[in-house]
Amino acid sequence: MSLTLTYFGHAAFRLESGKNAVLIDPFITGNPVASVSADEVNAETIILTHAHNDHVGDTVEIAKRNNATVIATAELAGWIGSQGVENAIGANHGGTVKFAGGSTKFVPAWHTSSYTTPDGAVAPGVPAGHVVRFGGKTIYFAGDTSLFLDMQLIADEELDVAVLPIGDHFTMGPRDALRAVEMLRAPMVIPSHYNTFPPIEQDVEKFRVDVERASASRVIPLAPGESAAL
Ligand code: NI
Ligand code: MN
Repeated sequence: MSLTLTYFGHAAFRLESGKNAVLIDPFITGNPVASVSADEVNAETIILTHAHNDHVGDTVEIAKRNNATVIATAELAGWIGSQGVENAIGANHGGTVKFAGGSTKFVPAWHTSSYTTPDGAVAPGVPAGHVVRFGGKTIYFAGDTSLFLDMQLIADEELDVAVLPIGDHFTMGPRDALRAVEMLRAPMVIPSHYNTFPPIEQDVEKFRVDVERASASRVIPLAPGESAAL
């Protein structure tokens, strides 16, 4: 089974395998490094890690246009449904939700979660990471999180790929991400959530060298618009 992962910049990814496609955190409009425009992005499943605007992004518009299913923590899924998305599935940490071509298991993430509208913040609830099984691979999307020791449990999912934030300031930075790699033991690591805005600028090449010196994992930095065959 072939699986293609495409990076749109920030924390937005698309997975494609056969006739199925999944978006994760499709923040495209307003994303200064986005490689596409939102109206050219299609999938029948959208998975969200949390409610922050730089993750929900274009979810409502893309979901309506594609009649897509949105999978998110319960409170966020409720809000997405209130915006006119017909298929929003709410779940919570520890739970697994099936979707067309795969499944995702909700795991903890240490962060906050709210969506800012012109009238204030809505959609409280908790953030999550996702262990996505799709296209024959197991991919951990950490979402926005600090380092936490329970990543040792996520390693038991036998990951093929770990997508980890390295930007610092809002999430863990490169030093903690290296410790996450050591706990997660995924053969492949894809850095995310960096070089989008000034506070999260990072030297990804230094991160790659540091990780590959300290662990058996290989780091694949993707430029926005780039794809990797997994
Ligand atoms: Ni966030
Ligand atoms: Mn974020």
